[in-house]
Amino acid sequence: MPNRTLAICLSIAALATLSFAQGGGRGGQQPPAPAGPWMDKSLPPDQRADMVIAQMTIDEKIQLVHGGQVPRGTASPSNGGAGWIPGIPRLGIPDINMADSAVGVTRGAAMSRYSTLLPSTLGLAASWDPKAGHLYGAVIGRELRDQGYNMSIGGGVDITREPRNGRNFEYCGEDPILAGKMVGQLMKGVQDQQIMGDIKHYALNDQETGRNIGNVILDKRSMRESDLLSFEIGLRESQAVGVMCSYNKVNGDWACENDYLLNQVLKKAWGFPGWVMSDWGGTHSTYKAAVAGLDQEMPGSGFFGDPLKKSVESGEIPVARLNDMAHRILRSMFAVGVVDNPPRRQVVDVAKGLEDSQALAEESIVLLKNGGNQLPLSGAVKSIAVIGSHADVGIISGGGSAQVDPPGGNAAPPAPVAGDQAGRGGRGGGMFGRGPVYFPDSPLKAIRAHVPNAKVTFDAGTDPAAAASLAKSSDVAIVFVNQPMSEGRDSATLSLPDKQDDLVAAVAAANAKTIVVLETGGPVTMPWIDKVSGVLAAFFPGNRGAEAIANILFGEVNPTAKLPVTFAKSDSDLPHPKIAGIDLSPVPPTGGPGGFGGGRGGLPPFDVPYTEGLKVGYKWFDAENKETLFPFGFGLSYTTYTYSGLKVTASASGATVSFSVKNTGKRGGTEIAQVYASLPAGTGEPPKRLIGWDRVELAPGQSKTVTIEVEPLFLSVFNEQKDGWQVVGGDYKLMAGGSSKALPLTETVKLAGN
Ligand code: BGC
Repeated sequence: MPNRTLAICLSIAALATLSFAQGGGRGGQQPPAPAGPWMDKSLPPDQRADMVIAQMTIDEKIQLVHGGQVPRGTASPSNGGAGWIPGIPRLGIPDINMADSAVGVTRGAAMSRYSTLLPSTLGLAASWDPKAGHLYGAVIGRELRDQGYNMSIGGGVDITREPRNGRNFEYCGEDPILAGKMVGQLMKGVQDQQIMGDIKHYALNDQETGRNIGNVILDKRSMRESDLLSFEIGLRESQAVGVMCSYNKVNGDWACENDYLLNQVLKKAWGFPGWVMSDWGGTHSTYKAAVAGLDQEMPGSGFFGDPLKKSVESGEIPVARLNDMAHRILRSMFAVGVVDNPPRRQVVDVAKGLEDSQALAEESIVLLKNGGNQLPLSGAVKSIAVIGSHADVGIISGGGSAQVDPPGGNAAPPAPVAGDQAGRGGRGGGMFGRGPVYFPDSPLKAIRAHVPNAKVTFDAGTDPAAAASLAKSSDVAIVFVNQPMSEGRDSATLSLPDKQDDLVAAVAAANAKTIVVLETGGPVTMPWIDKVSGVLAAFFPGNRGAEAIANILFGEVNPTAKLPVTFAKSDSDLPHPKIAGIDLSPVPPTGGPGGFGGGRGGLPPFDVPYTEGLKVGYKWFDAENKETLFPFGFGLSYTTYTYSGLKVTASASGATVSFSVKNTGKRGGTEIAQVYASLPAGTGEPPKRLIGWDRVELAPGQSKTVTIEVEPLFLSVFNEQKDGWQVVGGDYKLMAGGSSKALPLTETVKLAGN
């Protein structure tokens, strides 16, 4: 071929690729549905799935149970998400286009698509508001539809056994009931948009360090009452159709070929009708995985492609098992509506996304300290020093596969590192330890908007002495600090990185009216806590975080959020002062991000022994009588509340708890009233567990009676011998109040047991 013709051909091919890249493949443009009897919407999803399976060849079934493979040099027909399963056009079955969407729809940049960045799900959990969870899921579901996807693979709910875990921002905190309820409503919100949802990473992927080689060791009772309970509740509330099994091993077997986790608990005990997909590259075998309950290998085909076909043809794996895999996938597609109502692309509603994101952020920011009621700030303040964390231009976001791409690129791009390539897998700058990504949402501007006549000056915070000098000459100093967190590595310590503690200490020494705003992936230590007058925990607050923070600082919004995780005083107070395997890390654990995700670099496997068992989070601190920096469930407001009149009635179906909450302050607010239980002494349970809560909206002086029905599951222990839940007969002390450490009301009730 002459050179010129070759060049033209190449550029046509390039244009074709580009048009796929920009338009985003054929997601959303589904083939016309043939009029097979399974297209009758009035039939049950299981029946429709069976009708389709009766028509399918073995190759079509195999095609459904592994990631789509595109021949080299061919443009991918996928929608550009993390996962793609080609459909079966002749039977009217559409492609499955999956998008990572833990905190917003990802991989937008490569497709020139815009997505809303929501506050981290840890922040969502701080709202303790199931309705906020549903709204969160609705935003994601609607933007997935608009972008041509029909499945979300967000839904992270591994509980916070390890507060330094790099992915805690994608999860819902340390309590299984709170986490399960929040992720459950989130995924319900997604599926109510007729987008398939998923819950992950099943199970016990509680640290990133060595996630591909670590073997988690934990007894069954602790699993069922803690880590697996969040999945159980999340699935029950949402009816999510997907479960992603995790990378790690659990008690000796990889999670994606773990008969106990997949067959015995998920499918048998919980009756999960959907399908289990592996985390990306988390499949380790054909036979063992298939018989243990894995239904789909993602994103490759090394085990569930040809090897699975051969195994079924030889009779090693029964054809019934392959049919079961296909059935689970197809019935899910019918049940959620992706066959009957496929997504149609349209421009994302940017304005609505911003509004929802801000509303969610305002419910998720926790006021931790308010010395001398310095907050809310008065509009009459004359001068404010705004310091640190690129607060002039942006708000930090979480990295890894959850990274949402900011419009216009990183608002505070890191300095280029010599020899650094474009990162792994084109998942944005926050993947696996590259610099953090800031969204263009300026706290400085948001603060200025509240006090247009004040002098509001920014200092980058790189030189503590310069920041202190600005603070000294200002009425108030607001220091923004951050903890960049990402999939693929943990933070080696609970300390803020980059000497930010020194910065806060220097500013606080110069100005007693110093307020710290934390933009962190999870809990951090605060050696300067006694020196500052105010602290807000904003987590990663999303693309309207700046406005939400400013609204709380100036009292436009009265904070309501409460901690979904314990803030420890030091690493040495944690069940594991050091993260298992962290010393094997190729990245020195220097106080900044440490740890490593891999294990494919020839590092030796190691155990992750969760010796604390049932004592996760506050349960550990209670049991060990350790003081915390801020306890689970804690959060201040600009008003105050009192509690009275606890009544507890035992019933065959659990217990009914009622009490009154009164707003004793001068402004309206919403109190998150919490109920905990101490189980009978003989049960060997930690001192208390959360069993219910309510959000009570109160005008000044108003009181309301709160009634909470506690279901038996929340009062039960898991009996390993009986392999089932049991309410143990005896005395239950029920407590109500405003945090796990402020429980003024107590009543003991006898439960009969079962
Ligand atoms: C992550 C998953 C993610 C997948 C696809 C994996 O590395 O652990 O959470 O869904 O990649 O991007």
